[in-house]
Amino acid sequence: TIKQTPYEMIGGADTIARLVDAFYPRVLAHPDLAPIFPKDIGPVRDKQYLFLTQFFGGPPLYTEQHGHPMLRARHLPHPITPKRAQAWLSCMQQAMDEVGLSGEIRDFMFSRLALTAQHMINQTDEGP
Ligand code: HEM
Repeated sequence: TIKQTPYEMIGGADTIARLVDAFYPRVLAHPDLAPIFPKDIGPVRDKQYLFLTQFFGGPPLYTEQHGHPMLRARHLPHPITPKRAQAWLSCMQQAMDEVGLSGEIRDFMFSRLALTAQHMINQTDEGP
């Protein structure tokens, strides 16, 4: 049997690029997320393109350019609350809609992103 990766199933590099392009304008427009992201979002967008490529089974571009992802560690300097995780996932759902991802593959990808987002939470909503 032929087994495709999610990356291949959704159309590869072009679709990942369209997804990150649809995602970050929403992040920067979200009142809970905008304050913790840099105004110059280009470098973050580029890293997310590299990361999502490998996360969904494409070539290991992030690791080639930036080393082991260590995503939780890389997020520790940023206050990631449950509310912000929900906001991030909501922006991602809208981006997936814009790009036209649907059906089982979209649900599979979203559930993997939701697990990762949950793992990034490093503060309560109330603060210490
Ligand atoms: C970087 C926020 C979830 C992947 C960042 C940065 C922030 C952030 C503030 C740093 C931007 C900077 O360079 O100043 C969040 C929030 C999340 C979240 C609020 C909600 C849970 C995720 C998830 C993924 C992800 C689920 C992957 C599926 C990345 C990557 C980077 C990054 C790849 C760049 C890391 C690097 O510096 O190389 N995120 N993030 N993030 N995030 Fe997230």
